Amino acid sequence: MNLWGGRFTADTDSQVFAFNASIGFDKRLYAQDIRGSIAHVRMLGKQGIITVGEADTIAAALSDIKDDIDNGKLTVDEACDDIHSFMETELIRRIGDTGKKLHTGRSRNDQVALDMRLYARDYADDLDAALKTLLKTLLKLMKEHKDTYMPGFTHLQKAQPVTLAHHLGAYFEMFKRDRGRISDIRQRMNYCPLGAGALAGTTYPLDRAYTAELLDFDGPTLNSMDSVSDRDYLIEILSALSTIMMHLSRFSEEIIIWNSNEYRFIELDDAYSTGSSIMPQKKNPDIAELVRGKTGRVYGALMSLLTTLKGIPLAYNKDMQEDKEVFFDASDTCINCVKLFNDMLATTRFNREIMEKSAAGGFTNATDVADYLVGKGIPFRDAHGLVGRLVLMCIERGIALDDLGLDEYRSVSPVIDDDIYEAIAVRTCVQRRNTVGAPGLKAMEAEIEACEKYLAG
Ligand code: ARG
Repeated sequence: MNLWGGRFTADTDSQVFAFNASIGFDKRLYAQDIRGSIAHVRMLGKQGIITVGEADTIAAALSDIKDDIDNGKLTVDEACDDIHSFMETELIRRIGDTGKKLHTGRSRNDQVALDMRLYARDYADDLDAALKTLLKTLLKLMKEHKDTYMPGFTHLQKAQPVTLAHHLGAYFEMFKRDRGRISDIRQRMNYCPLGAGALAGTTYPLDRAYTAELLDFDGPTLNSMDSVSDRDYLIEILSALSTIMMHLSRFSEEIIIWNSNEYRFIELDDAYSTGSSIMPQKKNPDIAELVRGKTGRVYGALMSLLTTLKGIPLAYNKDMQEDKEVFFDASDTCINCVKLFNDMLATTRFNREIMEKSAAGGFTNATDVADYLVGKGIPFRDAHGLVGRLVLMCIERGIALDDLGLDEYRSVSPVIDDDIYEAIAVRTCVQRRNTVGAPGLKAMEAEIEACEKYLAG
């Protein structure tokens, strides 16, 4: 069933129909399509382009169609080539000639541009809510783990001790920026393309500002050619989704490392891990691995759409239909990953003792020994060299800096007293770091308070 049969004398070849059709995937736009059509007829009625009575009849029938699809009473007929054709065909089937007036002053080009914007805007709101839930989980864990000590790493080698709250706080910042990006995009895209027509506007006296208002946009888009061919907002969202996935993937990598037999920093909940068909002892971090793996496919969507758009002359071209499958796939993937990752994180157990023990090994307090010497009047560069000698002594004997005797310390520098042990204990090392953004208790409490304020705002 086509809306454009008049000019044609032969039917579309069946393979061409299948190649051309988007109904299989754009049927998920039905709610946005109906919302846009109702706003359109309301505006047509207000402007006297159709009568208010006709507008009422069309709007009521469209609402009924939506209810019927929602409730499963009506299934989208894939004999139509896209969701727009299906809607109009179904409308005319229900209310006859009045339904034929729906498409007055409109093209599928501005219609699909509107539907995608509405869909992307709804998605942005859902994603924002999912990110907010993840941030709440992170904040809860940060509050619980202000004194759960662990090694901080550089080059994946133990560097200086931090706390779990501090480590998780880094991810809080990342996902906070992600929300900011989504909200910036939402603001930039919030203009209504409906009324742009096929590309050159229309001769009917449309009130585009009114339609925009009915659909909660900040106003109509300005240039009708741009309106029907702009997909920048999808590129922007896919770019933001790629960044979210990159963050989730880094976090996943850490979960996988922390969950390994060598680290045992965490224990994943049974419900969020899987076993092996052959090795009975296995408890695998599949969710984290899949999140890490699916990152590639979201990046792929971004590349795919950028490439699709790069050669398209103004205005609408059918290439643009290719925006849908990649966007739907990447957006579903990303929001599912955010949600699942959140649930996995919320149910993970952290092995405090193992983490703290690990923080105490690996010379994570070497900088603090140097700082101790600086406190006793030795310039930092000299102190650095002296501690290097102490570390070498420890490595030779397979012990930690905390295990050296006072005599050994004094053999390197006589300024060292027995207060050295307290000064380089993991807890002391962490809790004395109170510059803004550092892991010490005072600094961490200020950070947590700021995170709390942000989430309340
Ligand atoms: N299915 C089309 C798309 O997704 C709808 C717009 C069709 N417009 C046209 N002139 N063929 O882009």
